This record gives sequence, C-alpha cells and structure tokens, in this order.
Amino acid sequence: MHIVSKPVARPLTPSQRAERTTSTAFGSAFTEHLVSVRWSEERGWHEAELRPYEPLVLDPATVGLHYGQAVFEGLKAFRSHTGSVGVFRPDAHARRMRASARRLMMPEPPEELFLAAVDALVAQDQQWIPDDPAISLYLRPLLFASERTLALRPAREYRFLLMAFVTEGYFGPAQRPVRVQVTETYSRAAAGGTGGAKCAGNYAGSLLPQAEAQEQGFDQVVWLDPVERRWVEELGGMNLFFVYGSGRDARLVTPPLSGSLLAGVTRDALLRLAPALGVPAAEEPMSLEEWRRGCAGGELTEVFACGTAARITPVGEVGSADGTWTIGDGTTGEVTTRLSDALFGIQRGELPDRWSWMR
Ligand code: COI
Repeated sequence: MHIVSKPVARPLTPSQRAERTTSTAFGSAFTEHLVSVRWSEERGWHEAELRPYEPLVLDPATVGLHYGQAVFEGLKAFRSHTGSVGVFRPDAHARRMRASARRLMMPEPPEELFLAAVDALVAQDQQWIPDDPAISLYLRPLLFASERTLALRPAREYRFLLMAFVTEGYFGPAQRPVRVQVTETYSRAAAGGTGGAKCAGNYAGSLLPQAEAQEQGFDQVVWLDPVERRWVEELGGMNLFFVYGSGRDARLVTPPLSGSLLAGVTRDALLRLAPALGVPAAEEPMSLEEWRRGCAGGELTEVFACGTAARITPVGEVGSADGTWTIGDGTTGEVTTRLSDALFGIQRGELPDRWSWMR
C-alpha cells in the first residue's frame, strides 16, 4: 500500500532536535512524524499517510477508549557503525501484531502495510538517531478501535498509528542489574485469556503490582502462573531467561509459551542466537522454588530479562514472600554479557546477520 507523504513544512534543525532529546527517558522524546492509516468495513485499509506528529482529535465515544480494543507493538531501529539504519525483525513484529489483533477481533494489518509504515517513518526521521550506540529509535505501532459508538461489539472503524521516540536503556543509561519482586497476590493473565496478545489492558493491569514492587525498592514485578502460583512466567514488561552453569557448561532456560505469557521477539531471537554461541537453550518450566534453590546451590548462575525496550537486562536480586536472594554475586554475568554483546553486534551491523533479522 502506498503511503502518502505529508511531512512537516519546516523540519527542526539539528540543534532543535538535540534540545528535544536532552531526556531520552523511555517514551518521551518523540520524533516529528507518524504514520496514520484508517480501516473501515466499507473501505478496508485506506488513507495511509506519513504526517507531522501532533495530537489527535477523538470523539468522547471513541470505543477503543472504553472497552480496550487496542493492541500495540514495540520494535527498534539502530544506527550501524557505517552510519546506515537497520530495524530489528519488523516482520516478526508485524506477525505478532496480526495475532494480537485476531485475538481482540480487530482487522489484521497486512505485513506489507506494517513494513511500508516502518520504512516510511524510519526513512523520514532517521536523522533523529544519534551516532551513539547507547541510543536507538523505538518504534511504537498502535491499532485501536476508532468508531464512535458505545455498542459492545467489534468496532467497524480502526486506526493504525506508527510513532517513534529516541531512547536509551529502559532502566536508564547504564546497564545495571535490576531487582525483581515476585507477586503472589496478583495474576497477569490466565490460559484462554489475552496474556498471549500484546493488548493495552495487560499493561494497565500490571501497574498496581508494579507500583507496589517499586515502593519496596524493586524495579519489576515477576508474574507466576495464575493457577498454582508456582511457575515463573515473565516480568512486568519483558521475558526471563535463566542460566545454569558457566563457561562451556552454561545452558539457558526460559519458561515455555503457556498461552498466558507474551511471545517476545527478543526471546525468540535468543533461543536461536544462544545455541549458535555454544550455549544450549530450552523452553522449560521454572518454578519459584527451583529458582531459589538453584541460586542457593550455585547451579543457577545468572538470570536476565529481555525485550525490545529492556534489551538484555541482568537480574541481580529477587524478593518474594519468603525473603530475598541474590543471583550469583549480584553483578552482570558472563553469559548475559556475551549474549547481550552478540545481539547488539547484530543490531548495530557489527556482526554477521545470519538469520536476516535486520531490515
Ligand atoms: C517492549 O519491550 O517494547 C514493550 O512493549 C514493553 C514495554 C512497554 C515495557
């Protein structure tokens, strides 16, 4: 689908851009453009435009605001050491957005439309990505029900938006081990629910447990399975990996996709990248008890979180109802560093991209 380009009349100067990106805190330094596409029952996908980033005018009865028919994605564009710009696995994000849309009875944005939007926005705003490896361009595709109705049924009009902001690490500029707290009070999702979809409501539901964890000095909440409250699922907004052993004997484990946790694109990449680096990786259930015992006995040596926003973030400490324990010596482990360097090397165009992940 052709995206009509209607860029700003007067682009910001480099110094104005620099001023707008003095804070690269997650989700704050937006670029000058976005892509907007409409969908209606009569016309399908139409009115695809690249245009200035500006506020939307919405009817108070915009149904997506009321019943949460909204799904989103998060992907990143990186500047390579040669100056070119690459986007990490946009096709995988397009497919996941289609799956999320299906679950919420929304029209599925075609992969070509998703990719055309990414290409158009990145081409237009690529000068926003500084030549600083710590900084990347986070792309946020959003699909929401835009029909003016309060009837509780699948909407008949939708809007797809793609916006972008400049960001550093999700947990601040320096990669530091984070502290996580297990919640045994709240559940994120149940099998058959919407946990496997990247829908807005899942994130709204995480805010209270996340705030309670933060009040006690933790960075993220750890979700357990909603039935037995025994199996570790994921963090507030990212997946988890566990490292057993070290050096040549290291192996990785991540919880299997149970239907209630999100199929992370970074998670999927690591399941392929780690074995290529000589670290076998498996999807295996991990109980909270095993996590604690493994750390106490020294078999479980490292744990890290992963996601588009979080990249690879080491976990240093875990809090639970039965007390707090440290993972390894609480610092970033060797396997975590190796994987992080390898993934980042591919994203920055410094290492061979054998899976053709970069566009
Ligand atoms: C991402 O990693 O891109 C996410 O969507 C999670 C974020 C909202 C914390």
